[in-house]
This record gives sequence, structure tokens and C-alpha cells, in this order.
Amino acid sequence: MIIAIDGPAGSGKSTIAREVATRFGFSKLDTGAMYRSVALSALQRGISLEDASATAQLARDIRITFGTENHGNVSVFVDGIDVSDAIRTPEVDRNVSAAAANPGVRAAMLDPQRRFAEGHDVVAEGRDIGTVVFPEAELKVFLTADPRERARRRVMQRHEGSEVDASVIEAEIEQTLADIERRDALDSKRETAPLTCADDAVRIDSTSHTIDEIVSMIEHLIAERR
Ligand code: DC
Repeated sequence: MIIAIDGPAGSGKSTIAREVATRFGFSKLDTGAMYRSVALSALQRGISLEDASATAQLARDIRITFGTENHGNVSVFVDGIDVSDAIRTPEVDRNVSAAAANPGVRAAMLDPQRRFAEGHDVVAEGRDIGTVVFPEAELKVFLTADPRERARRRVMQRHEGSEVDASVIEAEIEQTLADIERRDALDSKRETAPLTCADDAVRIDSTSHTIDEIVSMIEHLIAERR
């Protein structure tokens, strides 16, 4: 069985996909990590992300693999080197949209994404899973949330466990909201595989639901589909 979870940045896709993977014993495919790996590799090798053909060639040349799962957390490797942390830096955040908008890069990612799902149950998260990568997925979920709530979650996650002044949090939420809105616009307006809700996807607005509530909704949907 394939479960596709698409949606904008910060809608809770990763957390939900991780929970679903752990609870049902599915493998989790984080396709955003693949675009991040391409962006990181370009930055490391001094390849300009504006050079579409050089970046597409790079995407075809590198080998992106995933490590063993540990409670749904999966390590990411480029040519055998662990890049799990390196792909989550602000620099990669700023550059990844350019990699993801490149049609040659997207074409290069399709094959490994589909191969990942061969022979086992997968929950795949991204922007075009239900529309392009796995249009035949048995269950498609389009996860959304109010942009300010998405920004708030990102900031709270960043400061988890530490005491931070409320005014600092507020300022960071404003900054993160601006970043989220910029990325949403880039991801939705690009020509190749833009972020769109598949016709047959179930839309879930996570703004006022807990993770457990959403996982329960998905649990019911899985039971219906099986
Ligand atoms: O989910 P994320 O923030 O790790 O995604 C990183 C970037 O990759 C983001 O700009 C959207 C893009 N992306 C995409 O275009 N298609 C996917 N299937 C997954 C991510």
C-alpha cells in the first residue's frame, strides 16, 4: 500500500508521516530530503542552482539513499555520506526551491522515488506525491494549516525545551511566516509539478487538530482503503 501525504511547508507532513510509518510499519519516504540533497550537493561543489543543466546533471550523478529507520527517523546519504543534518541548514532552506523547480532535477528524482516503494508499504511525503510520483496511491492526504500556525509550530519546535522571551518568539514567528509564504508561492507557482491537491486526495486542515487526532483520521482512512 502507498500513502501519499502532500502539503505546504510546516503543515505537519513529516510528523504525521513519521507517526503513520511507526504505527503501521510502513517505510517513510521523505522526498523533500532528496531535493535538499541536490541543493546541498550543488552548494558544496560550487554548481550554481541557476545553471539548470549542470544541476540536473548533478541530480543524475549523485546517489541518494536512506538509512535504516529508527522510530520513523531516517538518515539520508549522498554517495554514502550522511547528510541528514547538513540538508536542514538555513542555506539549504534558501536554495532548495530552485533545485525543486528544475524539471531535469525532478525527472532524475522520479525513478529512485518509485523504486523505493517497490515491494513494501510506503508513506511518502512531499508536494507532488499524489499527483505525479504515485498517482495510483491507495490513500492520498493533502495536509494544510493556517500559515501563521505553521510558522508558530516551526519556531516552537526550534526552541523546544529552552526558555525564550515572548518578544523573541513573536519576532521569529513573523520572520518564519514571511519565509513560509515565500516558499509556498515558489512551490505552488512553478511550472513542473507544482504543489496542488490531487482530485482524489482527502484534505485535512491540521490548524486546530492534534497530531494524534490526525493520525486517527488517517488510521480510519487506511482501514477503509484496505
Ligand atoms: O518538505 P521540505 O521542506 O523538506 O521540502 C524541501 C523543498 O523541496 C521545498 O521547497 C519543496 C520541495 N519539494 C518538492 O518540490 N517536491 C516534493 N515532492 C518534495 C519537496
